[in-house]
Amino acid sequence: MKRKPYIAGNWKMNCTNDKAAILADELKEKLDGISGIDIGVFPPFTALSSVAENLKNTNIIVGAQNMGQYESGAYTGEISGDMILSTGSTSVILGHSERRGYYFENDEMINSKLKAALLKGLNPIVCVGELLEEKEKGLLKSVLRRQISKALDGISKQDISKVVFAYEPVWAIGTGKNATSSDAEEGCQFIRTVIGDIFHPTRAMESRILYGGSVKSANISEYRSLENVDGALVGGASLKADEFSKIIKGWLES
Ligand code: PGA
Repeated sequence: MKRKPYIAGNWKMNCTNDKAAILADELKEKLDGISGIDIGVFPPFTALSSVAENLKNTNIIVGAQNMGQYESGAYTGEISGDMILSTGSTSVILGHSERRGYYFENDEMINSKLKAALLKGLNPIVCVGELLEEKEKGLLKSVLRRQISKALDGISKQDISKVVFAYEPVWAIGTGKNATSSDAEEGCQFIRTVIGDIFHPTRAMESRILYGGSVKSANISEYRSLENVDGALVGGASLKADEFSKIIKGWLES
């Protein structure tokens, strides 16, 4: 089955509004006219409105890096789904390992956030992946199965097709030590198996699963021909327009 590839850039806690505007301008110019692939950028909350406005009517999707699971109210410091939508953004990253690791987000929270995002019509990217010690103990599959099953608890058959997954082994994020193509394929293939077990293998074949962890233009070709890898979630290398556009063009090269 042919799934549309997707390359997304997670800007993390980088880019004040002036820098975000420059990066968005450069991306608009460099990525103009590229088709056959979805392209997304995930700026910090503070830059969402301006970047979404700047990239309106382009081929670039804009989304947030996190969202609160509640509708509104006394949740100091949180950002709701409606607030994200009101910036003109249409997507959101959930369950990133930095949220899980540094801010103690657990599987139940990620499940609530996913339900809230889907209810609002935001297109979510759900991140999963194992720690180095879990990999070394042979726990890859049990960790992925737990993360996926809990994230998808109560999600409907209709909604599963709107969810993009990112397999991001924690040991590969920001370390410069990208996963080998066989590690990436193994993780993404297993995620597809779990989705198939929960829903149906046909549904799982429709799901897009990205690899993330130290992706750059020099290694993107290792992933593009893999059967179960449908694109990449890029961190550090998405902060330079030239490098990010090279990654996208690198994916499209046959
Ligand atoms: P990295 O980050 O590309 O800087 O390793 C990936 C991610 O956190 O999504």
